[in-house]
Amino acid sequence: MGVTSPLKVSTRSRSFSTKFLPYVLYALFSIALFRFYFHPSPFLQSTTDQLPHSNRIILTSSSPPSPPSLSLSREEEIANKTSCNYTNGRWVHDKRGPLYNGTTCGTIKDGQNCISHGRPDLGYLYWRWQLNQCQLPRFDPNTFFNLLSNKHIAFVGDSMARNQLESLLCMLATASNPNLVYTNGEDNRFRTWHFDSHNVTVSVYWSPFLVRGVEKSKGGPDHNELYVDVVDERWGSDLDHLDMVVLSIGHWFLHPAVYYEGGSVLGCHYCPGLNHTEIGFYGVMRKAIKIALESIIERKKGSRNGIDAFLTSFSPSHFEGEWDKAGACPKTEPSKGEKMVEGMDADMRLIAVEEIEAANVKVKQFGGMRLEILDVTKLSLMRPDGHPGPYMYPFPFANGVEEHVQNDCVHWCLPGPIDTWNQIMLQVIRRWRRGE
Ligand SMILES: *[C@@H]1O[C@H](CO)[C@@H](O)[C@H](O)[C@H]1NC(C)=O
Ligand SMILES: *[C@@H]1O[C@H](CO)[C@@H](O)[C@H](O)[C@H]1NC(C)=O
Ligand SMILES: *[C@@H]1O[C@H](CO)[C@@H](O)[C@H](O)[C@H]1NC(C)=O
Ligand SMILES: *[C@@H]1O[C@H](CO)[C@@H](O)[C@H](O)[C@H]1NC(C)=O
Ligand SMILES: *[C@@H]1O[C@H](CO)[C@@H](O)[C@H](O)[C@H]1NC(C)=O
Repeated sequence: MGVTSPLKVSTRSRSFSTKFLPYVLYALFSIALFRFYFHPSPFLQSTTDQLPHSNRIILTSSSPPSPPSLSLSREEEIANKTSCNYTNGRWVHDKRGPLYNGTTCGTIKDGQNCISHGRPDLGYLYWRWQLNQCQLPRFDPNTFFNLLSNKHIAFVGDSMARNQLESLLCMLATASNPNLVYTNGEDNRFRTWHFDSHNVTVSVYWSPFLVRGVEKSKGGPDHNELYVDVVDERWGSDLDHLDMVVLSIGHWFLHPAVYYEGGSVLGCHYCPGLNHTEIGFYGVMRKAIKIALESIIERKKGSRNGIDAFLTSFSPSHFEGEWDKAGACPKTEPSKGEKMVEGMDADMRLIAVEEIEAANVKVKQFGGMRLEILDVTKLSLMRPDGHPGPYMYPFPFANGVEEHVQNDCVHWCLPGPIDTWNQIMLQVIRRWRRGE
């Protein structure tokens, strides 16, 4: 199935992509993603069994020296004084590198542990997001612990939510030991850790639609089924115990699906053979976000402890070539210059921005809650070098370059650019604490 990335098409004008981009193209593409990211076939996995002998080359990075970095307290002072817009900036070299590595953090999902899988170039680790108007301080785990002590923060969503959660855990683990206190579900989809040092609880809930859904599965339906007006109680029923939630969804909405609302079929997305109306996925994703935010407001309004919520905006993928061939996302450096968010990335991001704005109108009547977008689309778009690519499996080229090479150009290597999402999140939490 030689399907190229829909992003190629979506770089045309926005109205073109919105109106005419064939849903079928998304669907074919997403079937491919679905198969290979969520149920990798055993036959293709065979290439990964030969480890760990490697043909590993460490490229020495010829990085220009980083600009002088400010001391933490100076950074903090500036950050305290300025109301930052975290959306606008550029990636600049930073010789300090990440806070953690795949050896020191035990929680990284295998497919995202790029260094231990033999990714040879390490230059992608030495960049920081330089804001146009102010400084973004380096993530300080102790600041996080102090702000979140005696609180429970939960990441809710799909594998991107998990990716962000594992980044946070790895950074926190450099300062205090997380205890895994709960685990449930296939592939560790529901987990809770407790940091005894500060009584901070961190959880992850698998809920790729936020609303109730039945996922496509072997022996089950060959498409997803979504109940767009019913919140997924796997996380919804725990809202009582949560002080902060980070919602993160997107890519699962591209998959073939049948949608139900009020007990009857609302329509479908790519469902040939079924007699349902194609309605695309944008409207459905909007409804799902709306229901999730409304549920948070309804269930937490007037409650003693309140809640704060982030909605992480869409994370772009970077397929440049065919997804099952070597070189699907071959970049080793961030994009140079400013990149515009376009096409599907822009449409998905805008839905999140607008739904947070709409929910904030309601929240104003109640207080005790803060909802904010974690607008990571643009900064992530500018990091085509941050994905596992073929290193989703260990040492993919141990036997030379084979004809089929699976690539993950969707999730992010850990450590990697996704650490910046949590860096920004911490700054917003600090701003909230100052009452701004
Ligand atoms: C920044 O604000 C935090 C609390 O809001 C405060 O604890 C910290 O001392 C401030 N830092 C500086 C350098 O002003
Ligand atoms: C930040 O900048 C972006 C792009 O310029 C803009 O869309 C957004 O509204 C700004 N955010 C805030 C909070 O001002
Ligand atoms: C990971 O970090 C540990 C502790 O800082 C260090 O000893 C080790 O060399 C690092 N590994 C890599 C691959 O950088
Ligand atoms: C620990 O944090 C939880 C919230 O996550 C809170 O309910 C509990 O009271 C806290 N325990 C102590 C001893 O403060
Ligand atoms: C398809 O749906 C339409 C409208 O609901 C209905 O009139 C028609 O009979 C259905 N066709 C089949 C083959 O089920």
